[in-house]
Amino acid sequence: MKEEMGSLETNECLEYKEGVAVKQPGTIQKFADELPIPEVLNPTSQGEDGAYYEVEMKCGKHRFHRDFNETVIYGYDGMYPGPTIETMRGQAVKVKWINHLPLNHFLPVDKTLHGAAGNPEVRTVVHLHGANVAPDSDGHPEDWYIRNNAKVFEYPNDQQATTLWYHDHALGVTRLNLYAGLAGFYLIHDEHEQCLDLPKGKYDIPLMIQDKTFREDGSLFYPANSVPPSPVNPSVVRAFIGNTMVVNGKVWPYLNVEPRKYRFRMLNASNTNGFTFKLWDKHQIEQPFYQVGTDGGLISKTKRLKKFPLDPAERLDVIIDFSKYAGQTITLRTEELNLQGKPETFKEDVMQFRVGIKAECEDRSAIPNKLRHFEKLDPKKIHPKPKVRRFVMTEDPDGLGRFKLTINHLGFMNAATEFPEIDSVEIWEFAHPTFDSNSPLGIPPNITHPIHLHLVQFQILERQDFDVKTFNEKEWIKNGNGIKLGKKHHPDPSENGWKDTVRVEPGKVTRIIVPFKHYTGEYVWHCHILEHEDHDMMRPLIITEKDCE
Ligand code: C2O
Ligand code: CU
Ligand code: CU
Repeated sequence: MKEEMGSLETNECLEYKEGVAVKQPGTIQKFADELPIPEVLNPTSQGEDGAYYEVEMKCGKHRFHRDFNETVIYGYDGMYPGPTIETMRGQAVKVKWINHLPLNHFLPVDKTLHGAAGNPEVRTVVHLHGANVAPDSDGHPEDWYIRNNAKVFEYPNDQQATTLWYHDHALGVTRLNLYAGLAGFYLIHDEHEQCLDLPKGKYDIPLMIQDKTFREDGSLFYPANSVPPSPVNPSVVRAFIGNTMVVNGKVWPYLNVEPRKYRFRMLNASNTNGFTFKLWDKHQIEQPFYQVGTDGGLISKTKRLKKFPLDPAERLDVIIDFSKYAGQTITLRTEELNLQGKPETFKEDVMQFRVGIKAECEDRSAIPNKLRHFEKLDPKKIHPKPKVRRFVMTEDPDGLGRFKLTINHLGFMNAATEFPEIDSVEIWEFAHPTFDSNSPLGIPPNITHPIHLHLVQFQILERQDFDVKTFNEKEWIKNGNGIKLGKKHHPDPSENGWKDTVRVEPGKVTRIIVPFKHYTGEYVWHCHILEHEDHDMMRPLIITEKDCE
């Protein structure tokens, strides 16, 4: 172990400087860098049974902004974001994910978390988020491996065209590995989608949106402890809120666009922060997005949206028609509030589109009205009657003087409780009683938990208010009583499609309907706030064979 740490390459990867001050966002020139577009990866070989890729996780040098130094990141093939993998539906892909990272992390590792105690700091395993894959290729958090090891994962891509993303999922360090840069896009196309005349090629652009904080030298800052500090040091924090917006690896970038239609696959790959996105023209008047897809692919009909929420891991596929804005500048903005409920002034800007005067060629793409057949699941029409599972978003002491987030008071190491049968349909209900805002260690009270299930795609049925003061969680989990329910809310207009991540909002019960299909075996489900996932809001999900008794 000593020898490896001595090499120049690994030393350069450890340049995390304690004590270098945090950069104030007001000192950073906005819209100075052009938006990078991650390159599409070429297969190492193309066999009869599909494409084969090799991807090397390694340290890289990256410049986040024109005026910053080049600093250390972890990247797939040393790049951040990682290269994009593109495939057609039904064409299998194999990827050898090689770990050539150092053993020690450049960000502060909490050694008390599961997986971290007694193991090398840098452990990795790749998860393809939103994919239908067998359990041994899913990147289970305990399947991590270290430097000079590799795993070959197989992706059948047997699902409709959509925007997936791959990212690290190693137990106890996921938040740090993603923050360090281990994330990339994975796009599945299909023939149906190709017949729709949506903007294609260079007019189809993925946007990985993240909030980050930098040090004065332009390197990544990640807190080593919470405020006030917890008794453990370094310690996982409850939430990471960056002060700067980064898109495809650049701080507040701009993109030169033609006055024509573009498709943007928007991904919130932030650690904690949820955003509401909107577009402003030069008069600060909101301009429309035309939504064509959700996490799981195309929705049934194009939806005109003025704004939409996007929490960590959620994707939204939109068309923006710049033909009306020739010569103008359009700004992508957020409406996000910080944890104290105040507007995040600096982060309201995300990126700028500079619209040219004339399109290069005639725009033959369309904004079709009808997109794809979509069957809305009606719980009343499902036989046999769906099993209902109830979950409460809870928190518990972790035995080290901190609180951890849990689900029904259970964490990752507690025995599995969810054993859905393959080919069954279930309804999952998540109640989120808000936490006491005076709880120790500055726990944010009203945070929405983006809950993600591996393997499956589901639909959101509704959200319903409930009285958190009279809520009896034990009763409710057991038999559905002990709750005073209030007003029902339809899903947000942007949520009517297949989803793999759902925003579980405080003060509400959120209901989803989930068909379990394709594979049996051991997966996980968790909150996609990475600080929650690591401590300890993740549970086993075990899909079982049909019980034919
Ligand atoms: Cu994108 Cu289990 O996560
Ligand atoms: Cu996933
Ligand atoms: Cu959470």
